[in-house]
Amino acid sequence: MSAEPVPDTMPAAAPATTSTSAIVETRDLTRRYGNSIALNNLNLTIPQGAIFGFIGPNGAGKTTTMRILTTLLLPSSGQAWVAGHSVVREPQTVRRMVGFMPDFFGVYDNLKAWEYLDFFAAAYGVPASRRPSLIGELLDLVDLSHKRDAYVMDLSRGMKQRLSLARTMAHNPELLILDEPASGLDPRARVELRELLRELQVLGKTIMISSHILTELAEMCTHIGIIEQGTLLAAGDVQTMMRSLQTHRVYEVHVLSDLHAAAELVRDMPGVLAVRKLPDESPPRLQIDHEGNEQQVGALLTRLISGGAIVTHFAGQVSDLEEVFLRITTGTVASE
Ligand SMILES: Nc1ncnc2c1ncn2[C@@H]1O[C@H](COP(=O)(O)OP(=O)(O)O)[C@@H](O)[C@H]1O
Ligand SMILES: [Mg+2]
Repeated sequence: MSAEPVPDTMPAAAPATTSTSAIVETRDLTRRYGNSIALNNLNLTIPQGAIFGFIGPNGAGKTTTMRILTTLLLPSSGQAWVAGHSVVREPQTVRRMVGFMPDFFGVYDNLKAWEYLDFFAAAYGVPASRRPSLIGELLDLVDLSHKRDAYVMDLSRGMKQRLSLARTMAHNPELLILDEPASGLDPRARVELRELLRELQVLGKTIMISSHILTELAEMCTHIGIIEQGTLLAAGDVQTMMRSLQTHRVYEVHVLSDLHAAAELVRDMPGVLAVRKLPDESPPRLQIDHEGNEQQVGALLTRLISGGAIVTHFAGQVSDLEEVFLRITTGTVASE
């Protein structure tokens, strides 16, 4: 970020660098507990409409970040804005825009599902006349209409999670911040959660969702940020991050001419780590382990063709998000 940090004494104003499309922006956001730093100069941007996966191991600083963004915790230094509103200077405005689902959410066991939502809608100031229809809409949204009169304590964990999500929607916030919502859910409940998040995105919500397990989030996010020990290691949209982080790739080459001769053409070229011959595949092919830049990759193809190889296919294998993730973290992050 190029702009000067805004001192705390400045009047409330949108940061100079916030584009209208960024719903969350933090600048050098830092939080200390005593002598330890939980969050270290975090600079984060979440575009409007994103499903942003905030990924990092336990203790990385995810909850701390989320609590600051939801105005529950003050930063030690640095700034954070939600839709241009400072979380420190305009907490009331920010609270109206954000729905927060904490990692450990209390449920009120002696309440029925509809009473639970009624209670929170009232707390958010939704008028009594509007609440019955709102509760109907919320239960419908999270697919719990059939549990309207069930006691919260009798719901499955996945259902409680969805009810809690409905609760965070009671004041129709633009931004949903969900702290580890998938943890402890069985695979089916996870799929349901994923579908629900997609629906919310279609409704125009921006969603920030944390996890210490990448695979929980890999398929549902448009953007990810990876945090370790209070420091953001990488962030961006999923495709761009994958492309920029992929320096080591496997290229597959289909060869109609002599496979051995083709392998010898490229074996010693810059960036080539290994060449495997797969003569029994149809068509026969080479797999080239390559670590280098695009020019070097292009040079491989040029060499093959100028050397007389007949190539019908030349492509880098697409590695998945998990591979990228393992490469940039130091291995302390679970990827079970
Ligand atoms: N209330 C607190 N007092 C002291 N240290 C804390 C407190 N809350 C969090 N921490 C520390 O801050 C760091 C970040 O914690 P947290 O934000 O909860 O991480 P995450 O949600 O990624 O697991 C950890 O080292 C944690 O021990
Ligand atoms: Mg946490």
